[in-house]
Amino acid sequence: MSEARNARRAVPRALPPPRGAANEVRAGAPVATKPRVFIKTFGCQMNVYDSGKMADVLREAEGYEPTNDVEEADLILFNTCSVREKAEEKVFSDLGRVKHLKARGALIGVGGCVASQEGAAIVRRAPYVDLVFGPQTLHRLPAMLERRRAELRPQVDISFPEIEKFDHLPPARVVGPTAFVSIMEGCSKYCSYCVVPYTRGEEVSRPFDDVLAEIAGIAEQGVREVTLLGQNVNAYRGAMGGTSEIADFATLLEVVAEIPGIERVRYTTSHPKEFTQRLIDAYDRVDKLVDHVHLPVQHGSDRVLAAMKRGYTSLEFKSTVRKLRAVRPRIAISSDFIVGFPGETAGDFERTMQLVEDVGFDHSFSFVFSPRPGTPAASLTDETSAAEKLERLQRLQSKIEAQGDAISRSRLGTVQRILVEGASRKDAGELMGRTACNRVVNVVASRELVGCMVDVRVTEVRGHSLRGDVVVA
Ligand code: SAM
Ligand code: SF4
Ligand code: F3S
Repeated sequence: MSEARNARRAVPRALPPPRGAANEVRAGAPVATKPRVFIKTFGCQMNVYDSGKMADVLREAEGYEPTNDVEEADLILFNTCSVREKAEEKVFSDLGRVKHLKARGALIGVGGCVASQEGAAIVRRAPYVDLVFGPQTLHRLPAMLERRRAELRPQVDISFPEIEKFDHLPPARVVGPTAFVSIMEGCSKYCSYCVVPYTRGEEVSRPFDDVLAEIAGIAEQGVREVTLLGQNVNAYRGAMGGTSEIADFATLLEVVAEIPGIERVRYTTSHPKEFTQRLIDAYDRVDKLVDHVHLPVQHGSDRVLAAMKRGYTSLEFKSTVRKLRAVRPRIAISSDFIVGFPGETAGDFERTMQLVEDVGFDHSFSFVFSPRPGTPAASLTDETSAAEKLERLQRLQSKIEAQGDAISRSRLGTVQRILVEGASRKDAGELMGRTACNRVVNVVASRELVGCMVDVRVTEVRGHSLRGDVVVA
């Protein structure tokens, strides 16, 4: 351990100073170091986006720099997920692992969906936690830190101040050619199994002009591909500044695609119930809209879909897919599935398998039903054994895998346009990019291509990802 770090230990600080941090002495010269924040993110892309905003807000207000090393952090934040039981339990075991860092003055905060659901109960279970804040109050972190220092007791703020958060965030900072932009918060669908409406509140759309301004700003910083985020993006209804008009999601897509610098537009997640003809038609008009849509179906049995309160039948889902493919034949479709919903019979499950067979998904995420406290489905009687549910999950996953593998193999030898994003995760000597249909392609190429749209010929299939060679014109 460096001397400076030892010095920091020798005089334990109960609380890190508000700004500028410790003055460490090296060879007699005072060197101001910035306080460091470690953020661990669980859950969906909305949490990934929010973690970026936490870093932005803390940098702006108190000069915090992000660190990947929890041992050197002055502030440790967990941005949590409560969508399934396992995700929730993970938070408490992780908290236990960093508790000892309080001895050298680190502060610990819990944000995100577990924080939103549990609130002060987190402090009761883990009294060493200093801050508990929800997805809608992350912009208040600097004020909460200040109060923590002044009052010397844990601070809890999990309120839902509507869209206030976006008015209190510094301009977005981005690294690399891709970025997430949140277009709405919350969800008002209340599917019977899901905690999200309780943890994130009801659907609230960000004003149209604010979304466009954020995207124009990041495009100026070099972003080429934007992913519009929301639990239900097709429910977007954004107030248009200076008028009484409201922009729907199809309108937003068309205008975002016109922003100078933006080459590709993605979004997640959309709901099959609100996948309107106007949205389908956007695939005809907006070339920059990628050839991929994540459209969670959850189940193939109408009886189970009704019990889940999804608001569509399996036939309606297939009809939406058919219309979409009529407009964009090459579109890749991915989905989410829940296996073992209370009362799911063997026959119901076979309907899910049949739906997968009928649609042909590019890839999908599938989960065993996890009863979530406070949701209607948690109190339904469930007679299927855990072993049976696991067996169904494995059957479903192997079918989905087999379909995905066949789609991968059909891409061998084809030329795909990728946006080069940066170093490959597995081999730092290679670069990676994504096809319009959302497949990762690894290539050997010069780093100067990062941020460029490049044609590659697919030469190899490796699991879900592909390898390719740059096509030289
Ligand atoms: N808003 C999206 C939608 O409606 O499909 C997805 C939101 S949710 C955060 C992501 C996925 O988690 C869902 O599509 C669903 O498959 C799964 N999920 C949600 N609640 C669950 C539960 N109680 N048990 C198991 N899986 C669940
Ligand atoms: Fe949850 Fe349903 Fe909302 Fe998706 S649409 S976030 S599954 S309540
Ligand atoms: Fe999890 Fe909350 Fe996202 S429950 S999936 S982090 S909206």
